[in-house]
Amino acid sequence: MKVLVIGGGGREHALAWRLAQAARVSRVYVAPGNGGTRADSRYECIDISEPAALRAWAQKEKIALTVVGPEGPLAAGVVDEFLAHGLRIFGPTKAAAQLESSKAFSKAFMQRHKIPTAEYQAFTDAAAAHAYVDAKGAPIVVKADGLAAGKGVVVATTLEEAHEAIDFMLVDNKLGISHNEGGARVVIEEFLQGEEASFIVLCDGRNVTALATSQDHKRLQDDDQGPNTGGMGAYSPAPVVTAEVHARAMREIILPTIRGMEKDGIPFTGFLYAGLMIDAAGHPKTLEFNCRMGDPETQPIMMRLKSDLFEVFWHATDGTLDQVELDWDRRVALGVVMAAHGYPLSPRKGDRITGIPPETADAVVFHAGTIIEDGELKTSGGRVLCVTVLADSVKQAQQRAYAVAARIHFDGAQYRKDIGHRAVHARGSQG
Ligand code: AMP
Ligand code: GLY
Repeated sequence: MKVLVIGGGGREHALAWRLAQAARVSRVYVAPGNGGTRADSRYECIDISEPAALRAWAQKEKIALTVVGPEGPLAAGVVDEFLAHGLRIFGPTKAAAQLESSKAFSKAFMQRHKIPTAEYQAFTDAAAAHAYVDAKGAPIVVKADGLAAGKGVVVATTLEEAHEAIDFMLVDNKLGISHNEGGARVVIEEFLQGEEASFIVLCDGRNVTALATSQDHKRLQDDDQGPNTGGMGAYSPAPVVTAEVHARAMREIILPTIRGMEKDGIPFTGFLYAGLMIDAAGHPKTLEFNCRMGDPETQPIMMRLKSDLFEVFWHATDGTLDQVELDWDRRVALGVVMAAHGYPLSPRKGDRITGIPPETADAVVFHAGTIIEDGELKTSGGRVLCVTVLADSVKQAQQRAYAVAARIHFDGAQYRKDIGHRAVHARGSQG
């Protein structure tokens, strides 16, 4: 069977990598892929992005199953397009993807279905937003409504910062994000304290299967300093998600969300990723929903997955996820992102990349922002590579990953030296 992975980041490289190992898969196409998938005979890259054109290509090539990586194509309705033509695709419809593409939609949804999240209010009027912030005080969180590639959230520690963020997002619309209907809008919400984790499940519209737990490192620099990024590294399992937190997250967040979407007439099929904030007492609240897998969480999660991913997606698109039990490598997987000079604000392109070692059973370098130009591998985006390893402990995984990273060179490479630090001394996690 031929499969298609839509996207070109590290997440899609890892999904394609795992799918290429599936028993019934004969060919893995990636649209558009990256320098890593292009240079590897296990994959074939396709330069089509527009949903209808991609659907027509998939029909012609008799693609048996398509999986969507990023949020952009989901919000553009690629799943609706494929389904309307009877093609098998795993991902939420455009309407269901609003859980991610509209903060106002997802906050209202959570309130309506009593799903724990930060208290909030949505605004289109700047004066009202400023007044709300003054009334609530700092710290407070200001979020743009719409997809902003991780740049639409300001955690304001002072009132001044909050007012600035409102002007930036609402008045000047400096983010240049594509807004949902009705124009620029912000959600202002209560600041939550605790430890974050990525809680990712597969849904077939009704049944849910949780993936292994994971934690992402969002800040650019060690000790969680510097600006927010799309993610500088991740590991699995995440000890903060204890058996009890896991059960609560399923019972209080994931299942009510799936039931709520079903009840609202927009059943959810695809990856559902709840960004959790877990307080000191172990109570999880939802920071946000994503309708896709996390990047870089996917890279370590795929390293640990032992089940046949194609069969899992097949069940997920048949509505029979209840028949699936996922099998995980018991070891720790850890991924270190190597980012380009200038990331996240203005990543430089065109730096030559050398020293990537060949893949082994427990170390894979997944590509993201890479391209092959004049026969050379070069940087082409913010997050360039994700060095991902398996090991018996977090400490060993760190040693192994950093030993690989040290061999790789491109000018201006930036990476954190402390990925997994929260897990080094922690014990007892769930999956
Ligand atoms: P989001 O895109 O909504 O996940 O927000 C990005 C990051 O901002 C999160 O990973 C958190 O670190 C932080 N954040 C978002 N909302 C809140 C909140 N209500 N309280 C504290 N931190 C938050
Ligand atoms: N790693 C965070 C995300 O994929 O949104």
